[in-house]
Amino acid sequence: MDQRRLRNNKHIRELTREHRVHREQLIQPLFVVEGLKDRETIPGLTDVYRDTSETLARQVESDLEKGVSKFLLFGVPATKQTRDFDNTFVAAEISKLKKRFGSSIFLGVDVCLCSHTTHGQCGILNHEGDHVENDATVVELAKAATAFAAAGADCVAPSDMMDGRVKAIRESVDKAGFDRTVLMSYSAKFNSKFYGPFRAAADSAPKGDVKLKDRATYQIDSANIEDALASSRRDAVEGADILMVKPGLAYLDVLARLSSEIKKPWAVYEVSGEFASVELMAREGLMDRVGAHLECWTAFKRAGASMIITYGARHAREWLKE
Ligand code: PBG
Repeated sequence: MDQRRLRNNKHIRELTREHRVHREQLIQPLFVVEGLKDRETIPGLTDVYRDTSETLARQVESDLEKGVSKFLLFGVPATKQTRDFDNTFVAAEISKLKKRFGSSIFLGVDVCLCSHTTHGQCGILNHEGDHVENDATVVELAKAATAFAAAGADCVAPSDMMDGRVKAIRESVDKAGFDRTVLMSYSAKFNSKFYGPFRAAADSAPKGDVKLKDRATYQIDSANIEDALASSRRDAVEGADILMVKPGLAYLDVLARLSSEIKKPWAVYEVSGEFASVELMAREGLMDRVGAHLECWTAFKRAGASMIITYGARHAREWLKE
Protein backbone atom coordinates (compact mmCIF):
# COMPACT_ATOMS: atom_id res chain seq x y z
CA MET A 1 0.00 0.00 0.00
CA ASP A 2 1.29 3.45 -0.77
CA GLN A 3 -1.42 6.01 -1.58
CA ARG A 4 -4.36 4.28 0.13
CA ARG A 5 -2.87 4.37 3.65
CA LEU A 6 -3.80 8.06 3.92
CA ARG A 7 -7.35 7.39 2.72
CA ASN A 8 -7.99 4.63 5.23
CA ASN A 9 -10.21 6.40 7.76
CA LYS A 10 -11.97 9.69 8.44
CA HIS A 11 -9.25 10.90 10.83
CA ILE A 12 -6.33 10.50 8.48
CA ARG A 13 -8.36 11.96 5.61
CA GLU A 14 -9.12 15.04 7.72
CA LEU A 15 -5.48 15.41 8.74
CA THR A 16 -4.19 15.24 5.18
CA ARG A 17 -6.92 17.24 3.40
CA GLU A 18 -5.28 19.86 1.17
CA HIS A 19 -8.12 22.30 0.53
CA ARG A 20 -11.09 23.43 2.56
CA VAL A 21 -14.13 25.58 1.96
CA HIS A 22 -14.58 28.32 4.52
CA ARG A 23 -18.05 29.64 5.10
CA GLU A 24 -16.72 33.16 5.66
CA GLN A 25 -15.41 33.20 2.07
CA LEU A 26 -18.79 32.63 0.45
CA ILE A 27 -20.87 35.43 -1.08
CA GLN A 28 -24.65 35.17 -1.45
CA PRO A 29 -26.30 36.84 -4.48
CA LEU A 30 -29.52 38.80 -3.85
CA PHE A 31 -32.08 40.11 -6.34
CA VAL A 32 -34.34 43.07 -5.70
CA VAL A 33 -37.03 43.96 -8.22
CA GLU A 34 -38.73 47.33 -8.38
CA GLY A 35 -42.52 47.36 -8.34
CA LEU A 36 -42.90 43.69 -7.44
CA LYS A 37 -45.90 42.90 -5.17
CA ASP A 38 -44.82 39.56 -3.72
CA ARG A 39 -41.45 37.96 -3.87
CA GLU A 40 -40.98 35.28 -6.52
CA THR A 41 -39.06 32.03 -6.70
CA ILE A 42 -36.49 31.49 -9.48
CA PRO A 43 -36.69 28.26 -11.50
CA GLY A 44 -33.63 26.10 -10.74
CA LEU A 45 -32.34 28.27 -7.89
CA THR A 46 -33.83 26.72 -4.75
CA ASP A 47 -34.30 29.17 -1.84
CA VAL A 48 -33.23 32.18 -3.95
CA TYR A 49 -35.81 34.86 -4.67
CA ARG A 50 -36.64 37.91 -6.69
CA ASP A 51 -37.25 40.02 -3.62
CA THR A 52 -39.38 43.10 -3.14
CA SER A 53 -37.98 46.08 -1.31
CA GLU A 54 -39.72 44.80 1.84
CA THR A 55 -38.78 41.13 1.63
CA LEU A 56 -35.13 41.94 0.85
CA ALA A 57 -34.42 43.18 4.37
CA ARG A 58 -36.12 40.13 5.87
CA GLN A 59 -34.01 37.87 3.65
CA VAL A 60 -30.80 39.56 4.81
CA GLU A 61 -31.94 39.25 8.42
CA SER A 62 -32.50 35.53 8.05
CA ASP A 63 -29.17 35.14 6.24
CA LEU A 64 -27.35 36.90 9.08
CA GLU A 65 -28.95 34.45 11.50
CA LYS A 66 -27.49 31.66 9.37
CA GLY A 67 -24.03 33.19 9.51
CA VAL A 68 -24.07 34.74 6.02
CA SER A 69 -22.80 38.31 5.94
CA LYS A 70 -21.38 38.87 2.43
CA PHE A 71 -23.77 39.66 -0.41
CA LEU A 72 -23.79 40.56 -4.08
CA LEU A 73 -26.87 42.61 -4.91
CA PHE A 74 -28.54 42.72 -8.32
CA GLY A 75 -31.09 45.50 -8.73
CA VAL A 76 -33.81 45.23 -11.36
CA PRO A 77 -35.49 48.59 -12.08
CA ALA A 78 -39.06 48.74 -13.41
CA THR A 79 -38.40 51.28 -16.15
CA LYS A 80 -36.24 50.12 -19.04
CA GLN A 81 -34.21 52.65 -21.01
CA THR A 82 -31.66 52.84 -23.82
CA ARG A 83 -29.41 55.63 -22.44
CA ASP A 84 -29.14 58.14 -19.54
CA PHE A 85 -29.87 55.40 -17.03
CA ASP A 86 -31.53 56.11 -13.72
CA ASN A 87 -29.79 54.52 -10.72
CA THR A 88 -32.09 55.81 -7.99
CA PHE A 89 -33.93 52.53 -7.33
CA VAL A 90 -30.77 50.45 -6.81
CA ALA A 91 -29.05 53.23 -4.83
CA ALA A 92 -32.07 53.54 -2.55
CA GLU A 93 -32.06 49.78 -1.91
CA ILE A 94 -28.36 49.90 -1.03
CA SER A 95 -28.77 52.76 1.39
CA LYS A 96 -31.78 51.09 3.03
CA LEU A 97 -29.80 47.89 3.62
CA LYS A 98 -26.73 49.72 4.91
CA LYS A 99 -28.82 51.94 7.22
CA ARG A 100 -30.45 48.89 8.70
CA PHE A 101 -27.53 46.46 8.87
CA GLY A 102 -24.48 48.75 8.83
CA SER A 103 -21.10 47.08 9.07
CA SER A 104 -22.62 43.72 10.03
CA ILE A 105 -22.93 43.08 6.29
CA PHE A 106 -20.50 43.40 3.40
CA LEU A 107 -22.59 44.60 0.49
CA GLY A 108 -21.21 44.13 -3.01
CA VAL A 109 -23.30 45.47 -5.88
CA ASP A 110 -23.24 44.27 -9.46
CA VAL A 111 -22.65 47.07 -11.95
CA CYS A 112 -24.12 46.38 -15.39
CA LEU A 113 -26.84 47.80 -17.61
CA CYS A 114 -28.51 44.60 -18.87
CA SER A 115 -31.32 44.80 -16.29
CA HIS A 116 -31.87 48.46 -17.22
CA THR A 117 -32.00 48.28 -21.01
CA THR A 118 -35.08 47.67 -23.18
CA HIS A 119 -33.03 45.21 -25.30
CA GLY A 120 -31.22 43.36 -22.48
CA GLN A 121 -27.75 44.19 -23.83
CA CYS A 122 -25.12 45.28 -21.29
CA GLY A 123 -24.74 48.80 -22.66
CA ILE A 124 -25.72 51.53 -25.09
CA LEU A 125 -26.34 50.39 -28.66
CA ASN A 126 -25.20 52.23 -31.76
CA HIS A 127 -27.73 53.70 -34.14
CA GLU A 128 -27.89 50.52 -36.25
CA GLY A 129 -28.53 48.39 -33.15
CA ASP A 130 -25.83 45.88 -34.01
CA HIS A 131 -23.07 46.94 -31.61
CA VAL A 132 -22.61 48.00 -27.98
CA GLU A 133 -20.80 51.36 -27.88
CA ASN A 134 -17.84 50.90 -25.54
CA ASP A 135 -16.99 54.38 -24.32
CA ALA A 136 -20.53 55.71 -23.98
CA THR A 137 -21.35 52.60 -21.93
CA VAL A 138 -18.30 53.07 -19.70
CA VAL A 139 -19.51 56.58 -18.79
CA GLU A 140 -22.84 55.14 -17.64
CA LEU A 141 -21.14 52.34 -15.69
CA ALA A 142 -18.92 54.79 -13.84
CA LYS A 143 -21.97 56.89 -13.03
CA ALA A 144 -23.83 53.85 -11.66
CA ALA A 145 -20.84 52.59 -9.63
CA THR A 146 -20.35 56.02 -8.10
CA ALA A 147 -24.02 56.26 -7.16
CA PHE A 148 -23.80 52.82 -5.52
CA ALA A 149 -20.62 53.73 -3.64
CA ALA A 150 -22.24 56.96 -2.45
CA ALA A 151 -25.27 54.96 -1.28
CA GLY A 152 -22.98 52.86 0.91
CA ALA A 153 -21.98 49.83 -1.16
CA ASP A 154 -18.87 48.20 0.30
CA CYS A 155 -17.89 46.86 -3.10
CA VAL A 156 -18.81 47.59 -6.71
CA ALA A 157 -18.51 44.77 -9.22
CA PRO A 158 -18.64 45.58 -12.94
CA SER A 159 -19.88 42.58 -14.97
CA ASP A 160 -20.41 44.27 -18.35
CA MET A 161 -17.08 43.42 -20.06
CA MET A 162 -16.48 46.80 -21.69
CA ASP A 163 -12.85 47.85 -22.13
CA GLY A 164 -11.55 50.49 -19.73
CA ARG A 165 -14.40 50.33 -17.26
CA VAL A 166 -12.26 49.46 -14.25
CA LYS A 167 -10.11 52.55 -14.68
CA ALA A 168 -13.11 54.80 -15.28
CA ILE A 169 -15.00 53.41 -12.28
CA ARG A 170 -12.01 53.65 -9.93
CA GLU A 171 -11.35 57.25 -10.95
CA SER A 172 -14.95 58.33 -10.68
CA VAL A 173 -15.55 56.60 -7.33
CA ASP A 174 -12.32 58.06 -5.89
CA LYS A 175 -13.13 61.53 -7.14
CA ALA A 176 -16.46 61.38 -5.34
CA GLY A 177 -14.56 60.60 -2.13
CA PHE A 178 -15.15 56.85 -1.83
CA ASP A 179 -11.63 55.56 -2.08
CA ARG A 180 -12.34 52.76 0.40
CA THR A 181 -14.95 51.14 -1.84
CA VAL A 182 -13.61 47.80 -3.05
CA LEU A 183 -13.63 47.13 -6.77
CA MET A 184 -14.21 43.52 -7.78
CA SER A 185 -13.92 43.04 -11.50
CA TYR A 186 -15.59 40.24 -13.41
CA SER A 187 -12.28 40.18 -15.27
CA ALA A 188 -12.58 36.77 -16.96
CA LYS A 189 -16.25 36.53 -17.78
CA PHE A 190 -17.09 34.16 -20.59
CA ASN A 191 -19.87 34.17 -23.14
CA SER A 192 -21.66 31.21 -21.56
CA LYS A 193 -24.89 29.24 -21.86
CA PHE A 194 -24.87 28.74 -18.08
CA TYR A 195 -26.48 32.13 -17.30
CA GLY A 196 -30.03 31.00 -18.14
CA PRO A 197 -31.77 31.01 -14.73
CA PHE A 198 -30.06 34.32 -13.84
CA ARG A 199 -31.31 36.11 -16.94
CA ALA A 200 -34.87 35.14 -16.07
CA ALA A 201 -34.34 36.41 -12.51
CA ALA A 202 -32.66 39.67 -13.51
CA ASP A 203 -34.92 40.30 -16.49
CA SER A 204 -31.76 40.67 -18.57
CA ALA A 205 -31.85 38.23 -21.52
CA PRO A 206 -31.07 39.82 -24.91
CA LYS A 207 -34.45 40.64 -26.46
CA GLY A 208 -36.44 43.05 -28.56
CA ASP A 209 -36.31 44.34 -32.07
CA VAL A 210 -32.57 45.02 -32.37
CA LYS A 211 -29.98 43.32 -34.55
CA LEU A 212 -27.68 42.29 -31.69
CA LYS A 213 -28.94 38.99 -30.24
CA ASP A 214 -26.16 37.78 -27.94
CA ARG A 215 -23.14 38.95 -25.93
CA ALA A 216 -20.42 37.46 -28.14
CA THR A 217 -18.97 40.86 -29.07
CA TYR A 218 -18.07 41.73 -25.48
CA GLN A 219 -17.90 38.61 -23.30
CA ILE A 220 -14.85 36.31 -23.68
CA ASP A 221 -15.08 33.40 -26.12
CA SER A 222 -15.16 30.11 -24.22
CA ALA A 223 -12.13 28.83 -26.16
CA ASN A 224 -9.84 31.71 -25.18
CA ILE A 225 -7.70 31.45 -22.06
CA GLU A 226 -5.14 33.99 -23.37
CA ASP A 227 -7.86 36.63 -23.71
CA ALA A 228 -8.97 35.86 -20.13
CA LEU A 229 -5.39 36.31 -18.92
CA ALA A 230 -4.87 39.58 -20.80
CA SER A 231 -8.23 40.99 -19.66
CA SER A 232 -7.49 40.13 -16.04
CA ARG A 233 -3.96 41.58 -16.16
CA ARG A 234 -5.37 44.76 -17.66
CA ASP A 235 -8.06 45.01 -14.95
CA ALA A 236 -5.43 44.53 -12.22
CA VAL A 237 -3.35 47.34 -13.72
CA GLU A 238 -6.44 49.56 -13.98
CA GLY A 239 -7.08 49.17 -10.27
CA ALA A 240 -9.27 46.12 -9.63
CA ASP A 241 -8.77 44.84 -6.05
CA ILE A 242 -10.34 41.44 -6.71
CA LEU A 243 -10.41 39.53 -9.99
CA MET A 244 -12.93 36.88 -11.01
CA VAL A 245 -13.45 33.89 -13.23
CA LYS A 246 -17.02 33.20 -14.30
CA PRO A 247 -18.54 30.61 -14.75
CA GLY A 248 -16.63 28.24 -12.49
CA LEU A 249 -16.79 24.54 -13.32
CA ALA A 250 -16.34 24.77 -17.07
CA TYR A 251 -13.42 27.21 -16.55
CA LEU A 252 -11.43 25.61 -13.72
CA ASP A 253 -8.33 25.50 -15.92
CA VAL A 254 -8.67 29.25 -16.43
CA LEU A 255 -9.01 29.84 -12.70
CA ALA A 256 -5.98 27.65 -11.95
CA ARG A 257 -3.76 29.34 -14.50
CA LEU A 258 -4.86 32.93 -13.92
CA SER A 259 -4.69 32.68 -10.13
CA SER A 260 -1.17 31.29 -10.32
CA GLU A 261 0.00 33.91 -12.82
CA ILE A 262 -1.67 36.98 -11.28
CA LYS A 263 -1.15 37.33 -7.54
CA LYS A 264 -4.42 38.97 -6.56
CA PRO A 265 -7.39 37.75 -4.54
CA TRP A 266 -9.47 35.62 -6.90
CA ALA A 267 -13.22 35.17 -6.83
CA VAL A 268 -15.11 32.55 -8.76
CA TYR A 269 -18.79 32.86 -9.66
CA GLU A 270 -20.63 29.56 -9.51
CA VAL A 271 -23.28 30.81 -11.92
CA SER A 272 -26.98 30.10 -11.98
CA GLY A 273 -26.80 27.32 -14.59
CA GLU A 274 -24.14 25.37 -12.73
CA PHE A 275 -25.91 25.68 -9.38
CA ALA A 276 -29.22 24.70 -11.00
CA SER A 277 -27.64 21.65 -12.68
CA VAL A 278 -26.94 20.13 -9.28
CA GLU A 279 -30.36 21.13 -7.93
CA LEU A 280 -32.23 19.58 -10.86
CA MET A 281 -30.21 16.37 -10.87
CA ALA A 282 -30.66 16.01 -7.11
CA ARG A 283 -34.39 16.54 -7.53
CA GLU A 284 -34.47 13.68 -10.04
CA GLY A 285 -32.66 11.47 -7.55
CA LEU A 286 -29.58 11.36 -9.77
CA MET A 287 -27.14 13.02 -7.40
CA ASP A 288 -26.45 13.57 -3.71
CA ARG A 289 -27.31 17.26 -3.43
CA VAL A 290 -25.11 18.41 -0.57
CA GLY A 291 -22.17 16.22 -1.51
CA ALA A 292 -22.22 17.49 -5.08
CA HIS A 293 -22.37 21.16 -4.04
CA LEU A 294 -19.45 20.69 -1.66
CA GLU A 295 -17.49 18.90 -4.37
CA CYS A 296 -17.92 21.92 -6.68
CA TRP A 297 -16.92 24.40 -3.96
CA THR A 298 -13.86 22.33 -3.08
CA ALA A 299 -12.85 22.28 -6.75
CA PHE A 300 -12.95 26.10 -6.80
CA LYS A 301 -10.63 26.26 -3.79
CA ARG A 302 -8.29 23.69 -5.31
CA ALA A 303 -8.13 25.73 -8.52
CA GLY A 304 -7.10 28.87 -6.62
CA ALA A 305 -10.19 30.87 -5.62
CA SER A 306 -10.27 32.62 -2.26
CA MET A 307 -13.93 33.58 -2.45
CA ILE A 308 -16.90 31.85 -4.05
CA ILE A 309 -20.06 33.62 -5.18
CA THR A 310 -22.72 30.94 -4.87
CA TYR A 311 -26.51 30.70 -4.67
CA GLY A 312 -25.98 28.13 -1.90
CA ALA A 313 -24.07 30.35 0.54
CA ARG A 314 -27.09 30.54 2.82
CA HIS A 315 -26.95 26.74 3.31
CA ALA A 316 -23.25 26.57 4.01
CA ARG A 317 -23.44 26.22 7.78
CA GLU A 318 -25.75 23.26 7.41
CA TRP A 319 -23.94 21.71 4.44
CA LEU A 320 -20.45 22.12 5.90
CA LYS A 321 -21.78 20.66 9.20
CA GLU A 322 -20.23 23.49 11.20
C1 PBG B 1 -24.85 40.73 -15.92
C2 PBG B 1 -24.58 39.45 -15.24
C3 PBG B 1 -24.84 38.12 -15.64
C4 PBG B 1 -24.52 37.32 -14.56
C5 PBG B 1 -24.04 38.14 -13.55
N1 PBG B 1 -24.06 39.46 -13.99
C6 PBG B 1 -25.47 37.54 -16.82
C7 PBG B 1 -25.05 37.81 -18.19
O1 PBG B 1 -23.92 38.19 -18.48
O2 PBG B 1 -25.90 37.63 -19.01
C8 PBG B 1 -24.70 35.82 -14.52
C9 PBG B 1 -24.86 35.21 -13.19
C10 PBG B 1 -25.46 33.86 -13.17
O3 PBG B 1 -25.76 33.21 -14.18
O4 PBG B 1 -25.64 33.39 -12.04
N2 PBG B 1 -24.18 41.04 -17.05
